[in-house]
Amino acid sequence: MAFQFNFDIGQEQNDVGEDSTGLTSISGANKCDKAVVDSRKACDILRPAKELYAPQSLPETQSCAVEALRVSDLELLFLNPEDVEFDRLLESLENDSDVSTATESHSDLIPNVYEGGLKVWECSIDLVHYLHEAEVPLENKHVLELGCGAGLPGIYASKKGAAGVHFQDYNEEVIEHMTIPSVVLNRSQDGPTNQDLRFFAGDWSLVQQKLISSNPDTKYDIILTSETIYSVDSHDKLYQILRALLRPNGVIYIAAKTHYFGVGGGTRIFEDLVRQRKEFNIEVCKTFTEGVKREILKMAFLEAS
Ligand SMILES: C[S@@+](CC[C@H](N)C(=O)[O-])C[C@H]1O[C@@H](n2cnc3c(N)ncnc32)[C@H](O)[C@@H]1O
Repeated sequence: MAFQFNFDIGQEQNDVGEDSTGLTSISGANKCDKAVVDSRKACDILRPAKELYAPQSLPETQSCAVEALRVSDLELLFLNPEDVEFDRLLESLENDSDVSTATESHSDLIPNVYEGGLKVWECSIDLVHYLHEAEVPLENKHVLELGCGAGLPGIYASKKGAAGVHFQDYNEEVIEHMTIPSVVLNRSQDGPTNQDLRFFAGDWSLVQQKLISSNPDTKYDIILTSETIYSVDSHDKLYQILRALLRPNGVIYIAAKTHYFGVGGGTRIFEDLVRQRKEFNIEVCKTFTEGVKREILKMAFLEAS
């Protein structure tokens, strides 16, 4: 069975398209698709926190088609989730894996089971372009990408000389079959060899506990996250991990839609939550108006600003 993204061919546009949820992904050659949220299969058991390790080479995924995002003179590589070989790889996963559950039900999101990391969502592209245009300093910074999927913003940070980039996704399968291969593909012969690249799977609340219990001083200069505020139910968890892991003078960049129709989240509602708690300064630093309205939010601790 093929892994499907529920394309609505009749409504295909150039590279963005609004759907009932306001979630839009970019898969392969700028197609737009519908995000299918299957809440009937939602699960109360959160995915535990786990660290995964990158291999030196990519025996299994090497044959998958590779896509590139060009940002000025940089090329960011990632696996094309629409590729047949990638489909085969997903088919070979255990029948009861979270990803196969999503595959079988043709769902792009199943709350607390599969959170959509096997696609490249459009706001991750927005975030990469923003980091580049705004010349956000990344060199020698310790960076965390939360809810990374393919991890393009984190990969960009690593190419810009970050001291380290830690990637996190809800699903272990996403880290193993999408994030790690994409990060490894971008490792160049002449790139930094001592960069601290680490990979974590699991629910934000449990990843937060794991990181802090293994080292109470774990903090990041920059935290990046894209398309992770679609569900209001997860806003508090995301807020808590951001608050716990940001250095006192660190900065957070959140790329997201203004409103996710049908699932209720979005930038305005998350911004309200942040303002109510009076711990962070939060501002919109870029708005994208073509297609579905999207924004980049910037957050920093109030005391630091
Ligand atoms: C729509 S995908 C976006 C993937 C990627 N950032 C992009 O823009 O292409 C949402 C991501 O949020 C993460 N996520 C959502 N809820 C989460 C939770 N409760 N704990 C950990 N990660 C979560 C998942 O890792 C998932 O990959």
